[in-house]
Amino acid sequence: MLSSQVADDGRRRSLHGHWSSRMAFVLAVTGSAVGLGNVWKFPYIAGQNGGGAFVLVYLVCVILIGMPVMMSEILIGRRGRRNPMATMALLGREEGHSKRWQWVGALGVVAGVLILSYYSVVAGWVLGYVVKSATGTFAGASAEQVSATFAGFTGSWQAIGLTHTLFMGLTIFVVARGVERGLEQAVRFMVPALLLLLVALLGYAINSGSFMDGVQFMFTPAWEKLSWGSVLVALGQAFFTLSIGMGAIMAYGAYLPEETSITGSTATVVAADTGIAMLAGLVIFPLVFANGLDPAEGPGLVFETLPLAFGKMPGGVFFSTLFFVLLSFAAWTSALGLVEPAVAWLVEHRNRTRSQAAVMMGFLVWFVGLGSVLSFNVLNEFTFLAGTIYDNVDYLTSNIMLPLGGLLITVFAGWIMCRNSTADELGGAGTMYKAWRGLARFVAPIGILLILINAVWPTIRATLDI
Ligand code: TRP
Repeated sequence: MLSSQVADDGRRRSLHGHWSSRMAFVLAVTGSAVGLGNVWKFPYIAGQNGGGAFVLVYLVCVILIGMPVMMSEILIGRRGRRNPMATMALLGREEGHSKRWQWVGALGVVAGVLILSYYSVVAGWVLGYVVKSATGTFAGASAEQVSATFAGFTGSWQAIGLTHTLFMGLTIFVVARGVERGLEQAVRFMVPALLLLLVALLGYAINSGSFMDGVQFMFTPAWEKLSWGSVLVALGQAFFTLSIGMGAIMAYGAYLPEETSITGSTATVVAADTGIAMLAGLVIFPLVFANGLDPAEGPGLVFETLPLAFGKMPGGVFFSTLFFVLLSFAAWTSALGLVEPAVAWLVEHRNRTRSQAAVMMGFLVWFVGLGSVLSFNVLNEFTFLAGTIYDNVDYLTSNIMLPLGGLLITVFAGWIMCRNSTADELGGAGTMYKAWRGLARFVAPIGILLILINAVWPTIRATLDI
């Protein structure tokens, strides 16, 4: 296997093929980054954590920590050209250190499976809302009716179990088709279309009467509401929304052509992802205040505000259906990235075909996801640590596993890899390189550690009573 991955010119090649162009890579990474994290999760956790101050911390985390982590992942991936575990093992040895760095890859494979397990459940809700929208459920509905629809839907394990199953089926289908045919085609149209529709909705939000309340909630920092716990949530969201910290971008980087600029691609993706999250917030919060809803209400936030707004709009049935269709696509292209490391690993190390690997992992994820399905109905009273099973999987992955993965990835790229290797991948030792290296060696790892320790230590101390 190893020899087949080195071409005549001595450069490594990926077993799984390569992106057909820089544009294809940027689209694929954007497709993985833009998803439920932007439209569903960002508004609801910003709402739960008090708005303004949280949003600012999140933006700072994206720029000072998210960007260097993403660049590190891409450069490591491209240098190794294997699945994240094998890449970390290979580069660990190549850089004169240890193959034990592969455990960073393994942490990511597990994080991806866990994230997808609940991501698929929420994506299933989106599929359900396509049908509800198209059949006119929300036409002229009141706030109470829209809330009752959400509660009734998620309260039925059969209903959300079915949509979860459907979504996993869709994911396996595209993953099985492989890199060029499957992943690239799916992202080409969806991101621009979603962006357009959000801009149209922004127009509606501006006229909703409470636009400035929404803006104020999002951008006026009330620092006294910000705890270390919220700072950790903001950091976790920066990782989650950019798809970093678990090797997904590393896996995508493995398929990146040699000559593509990593810095330029990262800047484009981060701008698109952050822009879409801000846009989603600017659409949702004015609607929350215009309709007297609670910004801190939790995972149901978009599923209640948007249908309510669509219900009052001329052409609402059409736009609502379109919106949830586009959001399904956004979730779908993100789901691909979440299983890619696990699938690439099975193909390379367990000698599976891509289709077999996709089906096996899909089944595993589906099964783990049943825990999240039941968290909204049968087992909603069964809580420990962070809350329900769903709450715990979400907290553990976003707020612990992703930041930890990001910490190890930047330490590896900044301290273990030699200057020559990283400068080679990042296109020379200019100012941009120096900025990246400073962030990757100091700012990102120290920032992540500080936030993790401050947020997690008091909890540990309280639990152990010391
Ligand atoms: N970024 C995705 C979103 O915002 C979710 C996500 C988290 C993800 N980690 C990932 C997607 C890794 C692909 C790969 O919805």
